Amino acid sequence: MVPRHRGWKALCYRAGALLRGKGLCVTLSVRTAVFPAAGLGTRFLPATKTMPKEMLPLVDKPIIQYAVEEAVAAGIDQIVMVTARGKTAMIDHFDIDVELETFLEERGKLDQLAAVRHVSSLARIGAVRQGPPLGLGHAVCITRDLVGDQPFAVVLADDVIDADPPAIRQLIDVFDRVQGPVVAVERVPLDQISRYGVVRAEPLGDGVHRITDLVEKPSRDQAPSDLAIMGRYVLTPDIFAVLAGVREDRTGEIQLTSGLRELLRQRPLYAYEVRGTRHDTGTMLGFLKASMYFAMQRGELREPLGAYLRTLLGEDPARYR
Ligand code: G1P
Repeated sequence: MVPRHRGWKALCYRAGALLRGKGLCVTLSVRTAVFPAAGLGTRFLPATKTMPKEMLPLVDKPIIQYAVEEAVAAGIDQIVMVTARGKTAMIDHFDIDVELETFLEERGKLDQLAAVRHVSSLARIGAVRQGPPLGLGHAVCITRDLVGDQPFAVVLADDVIDADPPAIRQLIDVFDRVQGPVVAVERVPLDQISRYGVVRAEPLGDGVHRITDLVEKPSRDQAPSDLAIMGRYVLTPDIFAVLAGVREDRTGEIQLTSGLRELLRQRPLYAYEVRGTRHDTGTMLGFLKASMYFAMQRGELREPLGAYLRTLLGEDPARYR
C-alpha cells in the first residue's frame, strides 16, 4: 500500500517526487535518513529469534516499510540503515528479487508484482553494522561517513506514525523555518514518561518549542515536562562530533538525547508536536493496536474484522479471557 496523502498537499508531494525523479528539483534541505535498526527485539521473542523485529508485519507490510515509505513521501531518497548480525532480511526486503518477479509475472499475479516492485524502487538503501550494542547515539554516530556534511533525518521505525503530511516532512518543514535541529515530541501521560527522552521547552507557537533541556528516560518525579521525544529527528552534521565525545551512561549505552543535550550548549534546538497518530510497535500492546488500526483502514477487512472484534468483546467475553 502506498502512503496516503489527501488534498492539495498530496498533489504537491506527487509533483515534487516527479520533479525530483527527473532531476529538476535541487532545493530539498534533507535528503538522507538514518534508520537505527540494530536492536535485538527481545520483547518479541521467540518471534524475533531469527527474524528482525522490524520485519514483523502490520497487516501485510513489515514495520520498517511503513517508515521507509514515510521518509520517501517526505522527499528523502537516500536511506542509511544501521543493522546488526542476523538482520539482513531487512535489507533484502528493499532489494530486487528477479526470481520472485518472474514467477509473479508468469502467473499473471500483477497486483502482487506491483507491490514487490514498489518496495525495491523506493529509495537507495545503504547499510552499516553497529557492532557492539552501544545504543542509539552510537548508532547515529557511526553513519557519519555515509551521511556526510548535510542535515539528515533520524527515523526510529518502532514509532509508526500515520500522518499527513508525513511526520518526517512536518519536521523538515519546521527545520527549514527555524534552521536548527528539530525533534518530534508528543504529550504522554506521566505514568509512561520514563519510557522516553523528555524535553523542557518554551512554546513558540503552532506546536513548535524551543528546547531548554533534555533528559533520557527520567523518573516520573524528575521529568521536566510531559513532552516526550518520539522517534523522528532532523539533525545537523555537528551532532556527529558531539556524539563522538559522549560517554556511555549507566546502562552502557551512548544516548542520542545526551548528545543533543551537549549540542544545546552550542546552538538552539527545537521540538515539534507532530500532528498524526502514533503507535509504539516496540511494545506488544502498541504492535497489536497498530495491526488493528491499519487493518481497519482496509476496505476488505474493516467490516469482518470489526464484527469479529465485537464478538470477542461482547458475545462471549469469558471465552477469550
Ligand atoms: C529512544 C530514545 C528516546 C525516545 C524513544 C522514542 O528510546 O532514546 O529518547 O523517546 O526512542 O521511541 P528507545 O525506545 O530506543 O528505548
